[in-house]
Amino acid sequence: MRWVKIDIPLPEEDFVKMIKIDGKKLCLVKHQHKLHALENNCPHASGLLSAGWCKNGNIICPIHRYEYNLETGKGLPGQNDYVEVYPIEEQEDGVYIGLPEGFWKRLFS
Ligand code: FES
Repeated sequence: MRWVKIDIPLPEEDFVKMIKIDGKKLCLVKHQHKLHALENNCPHASGLLSAGWCKNGNIICPIHRYEYNLETGKGLPGQNDYVEVYPIEEQEDGVYIGLPEGFWKRLFS
């Protein structure tokens, strides 16, 4: 696991936004005062989850409204899919996202 610091200021209020780490895109969410990081592309047809919104602990893809749990990445029953979620740690000097080794190679190969 490699911990990467988020190098942009984060709003106090809830948000859904795209962030770049090492030039690659992730979806960063603050929902009910808790941060979540997940892959940015919806597995259904590559909609951008960072253009979506949150409801009841799920992020909703803006294209066909598939929903994914922010904690587990699991899609709703019947969707039979999931998104990758990544751990977040808030430390004294900032917020870090934990990326598995080989993360970018696996995500973009
Ligand atoms: S592209 Fe996300 S639900 Fe279809």
